[in-house]
Amino acid sequence: MEELFEIARQAALNAYAPYSHFRVGAALRAADGTVYTGCNVENRSFGLTICAERSAVVQGISKGRQVFTALAIASLDSEKPVGPCGACRQVVSEFMATDAPVRFGGSDGTYTDTTIGELYPYDSLHDLAQTL
Ligand code: THU
Repeated sequence: MEELFEIARQAALNAYAPYSHFRVGAALRAADGTVYTGCNVENRSFGLTICAERSAVVQGISKGRQVFTALAIASLDSEKPVGPCGACRQVVSEFMATDAPVRFGGSDGTYTDTTIGELYPYDSLHDLAQTL
């Protein structure tokens, strides 16, 4: 997870965040070991902003990966770790097992280690795609 977190930190440097000045990077490890990154991309309409986590999911899916085994999220402009937003928890959960590890950390070196199942609990429809 240390390596994945460092990749997320690097990805955050590419964030487009002129409105919030809050740069976030995400690194998503695919089942084959490949890592896909994302950063937040804001928009002057605000509502069209895409978070780093969903940006990383889009990168991976676009390259043909649909299963991810670990996620790291780095917030450069917050000392303390900032957890993913609700929308990202749901979108990420679509492509990860509930026990998949997630690390989120801030700039002071502290981080939280958790799982997507803890971040998005009571996910009764988790396997809906497989059952249709
Ligand atoms: N943001 C992310 O990209 N990921 C998170 O986990 C939290 C929030 C972005 C959205 C917006 O561009 C900025 O951070 C402030 O909310």
